[in-house]
Amino acid sequence: MMLRYLTAGAALAAMVAVGPVTAKPIVIKFSHVVAENTPKGQMASKFKDLVAERLQGKVEVEVYPNSQLFGDNRVLEAILLGDVQMSAPSLSKFKRYTKKLQLFDLPFLFSDMAAAERFQKSPAGVKLLSSMNKKGLMGLGYLHNGMKQLSASEPLRVPGDARNLKFRIQSSDVLAAQFKAVHAVPLKKPFSEAFTLLQTRAIDGQENTWSNIYSKKFFEVQPYITESNHGLLDYMVVTSTEFWMDLPQDVRVEVQKALDEAIVFGNQVAAEKSIADRQKIIDSGRSEVIEFTPKQLGMWKKVMKPVWKKFEGEIGKELIEAARRSNK
Ligand code: LMR
Repeated sequence: MMLRYLTAGAALAAMVAVGPVTAKPIVIKFSHVVAENTPKGQMASKFKDLVAERLQGKVEVEVYPNSQLFGDNRVLEAILLGDVQMSAPSLSKFKRYTKKLQLFDLPFLFSDMAAAERFQKSPAGVKLLSSMNKKGLMGLGYLHNGMKQLSASEPLRVPGDARNLKFRIQSSDVLAAQFKAVHAVPLKKPFSEAFTLLQTRAIDGQENTWSNIYSKKFFEVQPYITESNHGLLDYMVVTSTEFWMDLPQDVRVEVQKALDEAIVFGNQVAAEKSIADRQKIIDSGRSEVIEFTPKQLGMWKKVMKPVWKKFEGEIGKELIEAARRSNK
């Protein structure tokens, strides 16, 4: 009896000394490859702040930018292994998990960002968020960056100007076919290697958005940028289905709300940066910005159009048609 009292007393004394046991917050590691002053970087830090404000003690977001933790070639695997919980790779980087998202790489598919937004919000666009569920990945939302431009060591005005030039591309077969269509040489390389490859002249050019060209200083080593708006670079915020479904329901709802708001903010940043970063590049005087004449634009569209047909079987004719209809 005495012993039981002593044991209970000792347990109480231990609790007073250590304090009550509190549950640890759920940690969401958000890994991405771009700089913090980009639409994705800004969206991720907004998401972190909103979660800290609303789910303090329950959920904590840690953001790892600039490929610090994983490059896009490994991040999806890392999500499935539970090493990180969220990322937002560009829509060009999901090929191993679904062929459908190749849609977004078709050259000259969307006439502008408003068309991309309309499609992403349409039933066909929303459905694509769950196109990788069976593979264990869940799309939580789209995020904009913007239209891609072509940068190179040579001025690119007509498709023939790209012949034999080496371009760094993201890991997408559609993008490879797009460059082959103009007889250029596409090289799939991680984003983190692009600057050095350009600087050392190991490659001649690349395609990217104004904010990526500015924030990663590509414009300092590429004398020409052609304002081609030939393709889209947007993102899908993804997590693992297992991690997501294991979250308590009320937490899941709040995290999704915070993410939706962060995406709205990130999209505003994207729209502003596509204008502001373009201007900063022009003002720097480091790169000449080339605009197509309507005739030149027509030539690029014509030579790249066969890429659509080539991938129609993998993407689906109806899906391509649905996306095309979002152009007004
Ligand atoms: C790239 O690899 O060029 C982009 O996908 C980088 C990014 O995330 O914007």
